[in-house]
Parts: sequence; structure tokens; C-alpha cells
Amino acid sequence: MRIRVEDLTKRFGSNVALDKVTFEVPSGSVYGFVGPNGAGKTTAIRIMAGLEGPDSGTVLYDDLSAVEYPEKARRFVGFMPDTLADSKDIRVWEYLDFFARACGLAGKEKEKALIRAGELTNLDNLSGRFLCELSKGMKQQVSLARILLHEPSVLLLDEPAAGLDPRARAELRESLRSLAADGRTMLISSHILAELEDLVDGVVIIEKGKISACGELSEIRNRSASGECRALLTFSSDAASFAGKVEALCPGKSVKVHSPRQLLLILDSEEEYFSAMAKIFQAGLPVTALSRPDCGLEGVFMEKTKGEVQ
Ligand SMILES: Nc1ncnc2c1ncn2[C@@H]1O[C@H](COP(=O)(O)OP(=O)(O)OP(=O)(O)O)[C@@H](O)[C@H]1O
Ligand SMILES: [Mg+2]
Repeated sequence: MRIRVEDLTKRFGSNVALDKVTFEVPSGSVYGFVGPNGAGKTTAIRIMAGLEGPDSGTVLYDDLSAVEYPEKARRFVGFMPDTLADSKDIRVWEYLDFFARACGLAGKEKEKALIRAGELTNLDNLSGRFLCELSKGMKQQVSLARILLHEPSVLLLDEPAAGLDPRARAELRESLRSLAADGRTMLISSHILAELEDLVDGVVIIEKGKISACGELSEIRNRSASGECRALLTFSSDAASFAGKVEALCPGKSVKVHSPRQLLLILDSEEEYFSAMAKIFQAGLPVTALSRPDCGLEGVFMEKTKGEVQ
């Protein structure tokens, strides 16, 4: 099922959380939804899940509008929020059973759905545990199992890997991989592009409520030469004063002052580039523009990113 978001605008008072957001996720693709804190990821995903209305614009699943028909959309969309409601006296199986019944499942059909969702998320050992006793990673498994009960063909996951340790992250990744292999269309939000890189087919980058880049990763990879990658970082003030910080974030890499406001960072590979950008992004350095002067990526993907930090 194809996802198409068109001109989505959402305001909270005078704050424009989403500003004419448009992007598409092809049917059966897994896309990352990446941007800094406050970029508008959760707002967009909640609207896409039919939980909130936009001020204008629409969300189409194939030809069905989730804005006009949110109840219909919810039948085939699975939305995993960034936190799981922490009910005190409820066990995992009771929680999932409740949601299975809420989805209208009963009898053998319900049992099958519970077993299938449990298998997909490795819940075997957890079903008798109380929700409030679970670790963050375990809660994420339960949360994922819950949204799989009604066999959605579209999954919208809001920061599923946030706060997970490396093992839990790897396990989650495995679950997501098998879900993707079944042909589901998935949008997975994260702050960190590198975290999603080997899971996603494409990426949508959002900054301050605006889409700054959107596209297939394979296309981007094919168009970029292997080997050295140069990143030109433009700062809001004196670039030289940030050189030390960039060097510390990218040890052993060449960092040169290119102009009073620009630093040139030279990296050895595409992987290093993504990981360096993620670190610089996360460190909150006041980068106002980012370009790839000689990596053959002009007109594509990251060079469109302004790297604006909230
Ligand atoms: N219910 C709300 N009321 C008022 N403002 C809101 C509300 N929800 C979101 N916002 C604002 O909308 C903007 C986008 O927030 P949103 O939660 O969508 O960002 P995000 O990309 O998910 O961020 P994070 O990475 O921190 O989860 C922010 O400026 C936020 O303050
Ligand atoms: Mg969010």
C-alpha cells in the first residue's frame, strides 16, 4: 500500500509544526523519517495514523484519505507511539488480549493473532509478566506486538529504537526486517539516520516542519562515488571556532577552514559520512547548511539538507 502525504500543514497556536509537508513512500518500501527534536515527526505520524487532523493537506493510503476517513485508515495502519502507556496491574497477555478484542477479534481468530504477533516480536518469555515490570526494550516488543494484531499493511513507528541497548536494538531490527520482508509499507522515525541505514530503502528528512530531502537510498548510493566524501558545513558564526568540536566528533578526519563560515570535512566513505553527519546533527552544532561539493550527489538527498538545528 502506497503512502502519500500531500501539503500537510499543522499549527499549534503560532507554532507551525508542519509546513506543507509532502512525501511519498512506495508500496512495500521501508522509509526512515529523520529529523531533530521538534522537527514535526510525531505530529506527522499521528496525523497519518488518523489520531489527529491537520489544518490542511491530506494523507492517502493508495486512494483512501486518512484525513477524511480516519476510522477506515486505522484498520490497515499500525501506529507505534514513542511511549507505551504504563498500566500497573496488567500482564502482557492481558494487555494484548484486550487490544485483540478491541480490534474485534474473538475465539480461534484472536488466539491465532496473539500467537502470530507474539512470534513476530519474540514475546514468549514475557507474556506472564506485568507491564510495569518490563524494561524499555521489552515494552517496545509488547508495543510492536500490539500494533500487529490486526495485521496492518502499513506500519508507522515513532522512534522504536530510542533508548534501547545494542542487543535490544538488534532484536528490534530483526523483527522489523521480517515485517518488512512480508511486504508491509513502513515509516520509521528516528533522530539518527545511521541507525536506520541498513534497514530502510529510502529516507524522508524533516527539519523545522519542512521536508528537506526525500528519496530512495539505492539511488543515492549508486550516484555517489565510492571512496572519499567531502562535506561542506556552513555555520551561523565563525567556523574556525567549531573546528575543534568537529574534529573531536570525527577523530582522525581532516577538518579545514574553507571560508570564514565554512568547514570542509573529508571522510573516507559514504558510511563515515552518514555517521559523521548524525554525530554533528546530534551534538547540536549551529550548522545552517550542508553540501557535498564533489561527491556527485548534487541535486540528490543530503545536499538538500540545510542541517538546521532547533
Ligand atoms: N500538542 C501540542 N501542543 C502544542 N505544540 C505541540 C504539540 N505537539 C507538538 N507540538 C509542537 O510541534 C512541533 C513538532 O513537534 P513533534 O513532537 O512533532 O516533533 P518531533 O520531530 O517528533 O520531535 P522529537 O524528536 O523530539 O520527538 C514542536 O515545536 C512541538 O513543540
Ligand atoms: Mg517525536
